[in-house]
Amino acid sequence: MTKPLEGIKIIDFTHVQAGPACTQLLAWFGADVIKVERPGAGDVTRSQLRHVKDADALYFTMLNSNKRSLTLDTKTPQGKEVLTKLIKESDVMVENFGPGALDRMGFTWAHIQELNPGMILASVKGFSDGHHYEDLKVYENVAQCAGGAASTTGFWDGPPTVSAAALGDSNTGMHLAIGILTALHQKNKTGKGQKVAVSMQDSVLNLCRVKLRDQQRLDALGYLEEYPQYPHGEFSDVVPRGGNAGGGGQPGWVLKCKGWETDPNAYIYFTIQGHAWAPICKALGKPEWIDDPAYNTAIARQDKIFDIFAFIENWLSDKTKFEAVDILRKFDIPCSPVLSMKEIANDPSLRASGTVVEVDHPQIGKYLTVGSPIKFSDMTVEVTASPLLGQHTNEVLADLGYSQEEISALHDAKAV
Ligand code: COA
Repeated sequence: MTKPLEGIKIIDFTHVQAGPACTQLLAWFGADVIKVERPGAGDVTRSQLRHVKDADALYFTMLNSNKRSLTLDTKTPQGKEVLTKLIKESDVMVENFGPGALDRMGFTWAHIQELNPGMILASVKGFSDGHHYEDLKVYENVAQCAGGAASTTGFWDGPPTVSAAALGDSNTGMHLAIGILTALHQKNKTGKGQKVAVSMQDSVLNLCRVKLRDQQRLDALGYLEEYPQYPHGEFSDVVPRGGNAGGGGQPGWVLKCKGWETDPNAYIYFTIQGHAWAPICKALGKPEWIDDPAYNTAIARQDKIFDIFAFIENWLSDKTKFEAVDILRKFDIPCSPVLSMKEIANDPSLRASGTVVEVDHPQIGKYLTVGSPIKFSDMTVEVTASPLLGQHTNEVLADLGYSQEEISALHDAKAV
């Protein structure tokens, strides 16, 4: 069956995580993604955090599946010539170099447009063009700090905290993929390409918009009723770190279950959804709370919310997190066990849905990776092994019309 993005050719000038996550997604959906890497070295993640000596690291394999690899030194005249041909024949070029690197390579946006007016140039940078930090190089945690996530994550008595989720990297890649698909849609109508730029700071902030909401509510009211600081603690003039608070309209918290003393993940997340109060009381064996005016509204509960959570923890003390969720789900209570990565790796539902997939790699053997989180009724996303460095160099050059002699000459000149 034809994949939706079949026929779209993408020059993948990305490295580390933000860019590769974007192009991997497009490759899963059928685009021909040609990863361009420096000869002899390649993407730095090929060698970072290896668990098999001299083999591609999981950091690389898990972000570069379904792609082809072309080695090309774009700083040599021959390499520039190859890249020029590639630009003329491609639909999209994705890059996440440090600021100005593409221009210094000689491939300004103006030049790329001259070569191919239909080209979509998609870029990730730490900060957006014109921002007072636009010259900064940025990695994941830097972006989490710049985008407002770190100042609002963690506990109030601890420092700003970064999330394990790649809010700066993969999240930015997902934003970029949306931008690319939008530009491709527009190109179908106009025939013209355009530049699509996404900054890591902006992408983090886009996921932190509820905290900007809270800042404005705090400015207006001086307190935030859904934060643990209310009503017994104090607020300053900035959105505080709320620990594990629900953050939306429903109070919630991470609660201990049986075995928490030895198992670091023997917890559930419990949400007190307003209209689920009666079922919650029934589930907890506290029917007298259902109509008690001291408990039966969210406002009435607010000043004793941690006493309620303490009561629920007591109820949980003889139940594992899985047993607890099995009881609570019958009462329609939004909750989940806190799953460890080991549990996720072995979760049969995630395997069955293709969200966790096993891939065979020529150097490291079988490994697990995260498959497409987007499911389609007319397409099954197959995840294939990431390419070895330069695995498709000759093939891509031949596709571009280079003869065997010319390809050998490019190798001799160390341009590929
Ligand atoms: N052939 C020749 N040169 C190449 C090349 C190739 N195939 N691929 C890359 N290079 C060169 C670049 O032209 C650049 O050269 P220059 O600085 O002399 O002009 C050089 O490699 C370094 O590129 P750069 O991207 O700046 O790498 P870095 O290791 O110093 O910085 C980052 C890494 C991630 C901090 C930086 O790329 C960055 O800030 N990117 C934007 C934000 C981002 O995506 N962050 C990472 C999220 S995972």
